Amino acid sequence: MLEVRSPFSSDAIEEKAVFVLHFKMEKLVFIYTYGCQMNVHDSEKIRGVLSEKGYKTAETPEEADLIVFNTCAIRAKAEQKFYSQLGRIKFLKQANKDLKIAVAGCAAQDAKQKIFRRAPYVDYVIGPRNIQSLPELLLDSRGLFVTENPEIAEQEFPAQRDSATKAWITIMYGCNNFCTYCIVPYTRGREVSRPSNSILAEIGQLVNKGYREVTLLGQNVNSYRSDTDFPGLLRLIDRSGIHRVRFVTSHPRDLSADLIKALSDLPSLCEHIHLPLQSGSDKILSAMNRRYTYADYLARVTGLRNSVPGISITTDVIVGFPGETEEDYELTVRALQEIEFDGLFAFKYSRRNGTRAGELDDQLSEEQKNDRLNRLLPLQEEITLRKNRLLEGLVLEVMVEGPSDSDPSRLTGRTRSNKIVTIPDSGEEEGALVRVEIRLARPHSLEGVRADLVPAPV
Ligand code: 5AD
Ligand code: SF4
Repeated sequence: MLEVRSPFSSDAIEEKAVFVLHFKMEKLVFIYTYGCQMNVHDSEKIRGVLSEKGYKTAETPEEADLIVFNTCAIRAKAEQKFYSQLGRIKFLKQANKDLKIAVAGCAAQDAKQKIFRRAPYVDYVIGPRNIQSLPELLLDSRGLFVTENPEIAEQEFPAQRDSATKAWITIMYGCNNFCTYCIVPYTRGREVSRPSNSILAEIGQLVNKGYREVTLLGQNVNSYRSDTDFPGLLRLIDRSGIHRVRFVTSHPRDLSADLIKALSDLPSLCEHIHLPLQSGSDKILSAMNRRYTYADYLARVTGLRNSVPGISITTDVIVGFPGETEEDYELTVRALQEIEFDGLFAFKYSRRNGTRAGELDDQLSEEQKNDRLNRLLPLQEEITLRKNRLLEGLVLEVMVEGPSDSDPSRLTGRTRSNKIVTIPDSGEEEGALVRVEIRLARPHSLEGVRADLVPAPV
């Protein structure tokens, strides 16, 4: 056997040992995030919790000591995306025996130890309500931590946020609604609300750091209840000094007259609401356990539009729910034509194990669902463009977010109504609030110019 001489003097070897020790203290984590805004923010919390233990963010999965998959289970596609990515990084584990892999989020909660059977190279499985316990779990060589954790609303998380101007804030956890298609009440547990003083303290810190916008997160923020209700919380936040407040997601049944009043009265509250309709057919709404009719929904929309000028309303619909006939589907089409939403997220129904709709016999074929989705999208595209054209010529407040992905000479930002606007880059910083004249509407964005930079007509 060849004897390899060390290139290091004894001093240099000591130096290297110190370097290795230092490197070990500063471990690197890479996080894959799937799914909704709640998950995006959970990943910020995971980063925050781990950074307290000395972890820094890895640029690539190859250089990481720990890879976390923050998963989504809402539709089969999101879950498949995670499992195929998990399969693709298996080789990294073979190349680096010290690499640890953790699976967090809704798919982790749903599958629990089954993940170890499916992917034996996974080291840790952690539920969405157990993020705080991740460092503790990492002390063992392998483990699972998936509990209901009803105390979560009392816990404070050191989130490490992606943006320095816009922040997500969890105001409640879980969901009690049990819409029959939805897996969330099973993966995120029962509803609990954070006390208002802890939310206000978090917002106060953000204001002091220069944040301009917060988005309050919960599966159904309208049923927020602690020492105050949701409109009460919004009134308290309005006095915090934050410039823009948004919230997602609202359940139409719980959208109260008081919330509509808050939207019309509070200067910080942005004129946008995401209000999932799901279907235009009362038969399907009832089978979904949504507990409102289309007429109830329409009355809410009318109330919002009458009280909040310029409000934009976006929605979610599901096509191909079990038992949905062509007539039911047509009612959804008619609802979109009647209401004219500013934006739509349309999904094909995805059968989820353990949900009540998953047990129903009259499941539709993939072809039927594809066909219905494909007919819906061009219709909405036309409506969104028509609505956006109404904004041409108006001057709106835009908060700058950064360079536009599609055109490096432009910046992108959002109106209070949550429309994306691009403007020529004249050096505005992220978070800058500018007055913009809308010049051109597109289906997914608006083009404008800064109103204060437009030369006055002679
Ligand atoms: N299949 C398809 N879409 C679903 N959603 C929730 N569960 C399912 C499912 N099983 C949609 C709903 C919800 C959005 C976040 O995801 O429209 O509002
Ligand atoms: Fe799912 Fe319905 Fe709860 Fe939304 S309100 S998370 S769709 S169960």
